[in-house]
Amino acid sequence: MARMAISGAAGTTVRIGGREVVSFGGCNYLGLSYHPEVLAALQRGLSHYGISTSASRETTGNTVAHDALESAVRDFLGVESAVVVPDGYTANLAAAQALAGTHRYAVIDARCHRSIRESLACAGMTVAEYAHLDAEQAAERVREFAALGLVSVWTDGVFAADGSVAPVADLAAACDEHGAALIVDDCHGLFTMGPGGRGTAAQAGLRDHPSITITSTLAKGVGCHGGFVAGSNMIADMVRDRSTAYICTTPVSPAIACAAVEAFGVVQREPELVDRLRRNADELSRGLIRAGLRIENHGTPVFAFTTEGDMRALHESLLEHGFLAPLIEYPDGPAPRYFRLSVSTLHTRDQIAGLCAALGRSLRAVGPKGALAGQ
Ligand SMILES: Cc1ncc(COP(=O)(O)O)c(C=O)c1O
Repeated sequence: MARMAISGAAGTTVRIGGREVVSFGGCNYLGLSYHPEVLAALQRGLSHYGISTSASRETTGNTVAHDALESAVRDFLGVESAVVVPDGYTANLAAAQALAGTHRYAVIDARCHRSIRESLACAGMTVAEYAHLDAEQAAERVREFAALGLVSVWTDGVFAADGSVAPVADLAAACDEHGAALIVDDCHGLFTMGPGGRGTAAQAGLRDHPSITITSTLAKGVGCHGGFVAGSNMIADMVRDRSTAYICTTPVSPAIACAAVEAFGVVQREPELVDRLRRNADELSRGLIRAGLRIENHGTPVFAFTTEGDMRALHESLLEHGFLAPLIEYPDGPAPRYFRLSVSTLHTRDQIAGLCAALGRSLRAVGPKGALAGQ
């Protein structure tokens, strides 16, 4: 599919091909990349540090801003320690490299993010899959591997493609039974799920569970850039000691680290941002169903669907109505090609209602109604 180029973005609108449309794409769930206090912190960081540390954190590239960001992540998630890395992909690679010395076996959700799958391959682990969200099958795989050696289980917290949510409590129980480590990639759960946006593990009541490690990006809910591995002191030390993805890379810009620290402050000072996101997600879910689509509401801001009619024509028709509803081809989604809608805190009720009305009209004009993606 042709890649589109966005020539400007502000809040909920983007410019594409010279026209401004309301976007229901991307993952800037709380709109924090536009938040005035986050932007001000970025400017301060830029004047203070410049753009880049131009060196690894383990040589001359560590700053007070990076240390402050690690403290902010640690305190927010209620874990012992956090290590900031260049991005979310690297976070999974760093965690895999850290564990590979001891944990030879890995069990993964069949639809986990590609960065998990590739990282485990890169770290040389023996990998087995379980069916998407099937904690019972995951437990079987863990039991089989546990007879051979140490095991780690990997899942997305919230799955990027369709917003489905991992059964973290059941996976943690299976891991605890067999002394396995559980790694939750919470790129889409951080700042969207759990009390105050503390993530999918917190939502499952496992905020400071000792055998859970959280990996995440800082580019989605946090609205900045970068990533981290967070959990026990032991896993953090292992990342610092063993993970070349951390040791041999230039960290996220210190200015962005300043912005991200501020974002963690904002989400705690303004918890209503997370509440409003949830209200908007419910509103969009109801509107999509009223428009005739069969979608599932997972309690997340992400919705996926396919239609039996011409999906490209539907996409174009929505653009003509002034709405970007991304039609994407992305690995490990529920279908080879599907609509992936996301809503943010910043969307107004009018924008949500406008999209749903346009969808209803476009579906009538273009063809048959939507099906749940993947069914
Ligand atoms: C579940 C998941 N993990 C990891 C990543 C990678 O994060 P980043 O874009 O910060 O490298 C993404 C982002 O696309 C993601 O959705």
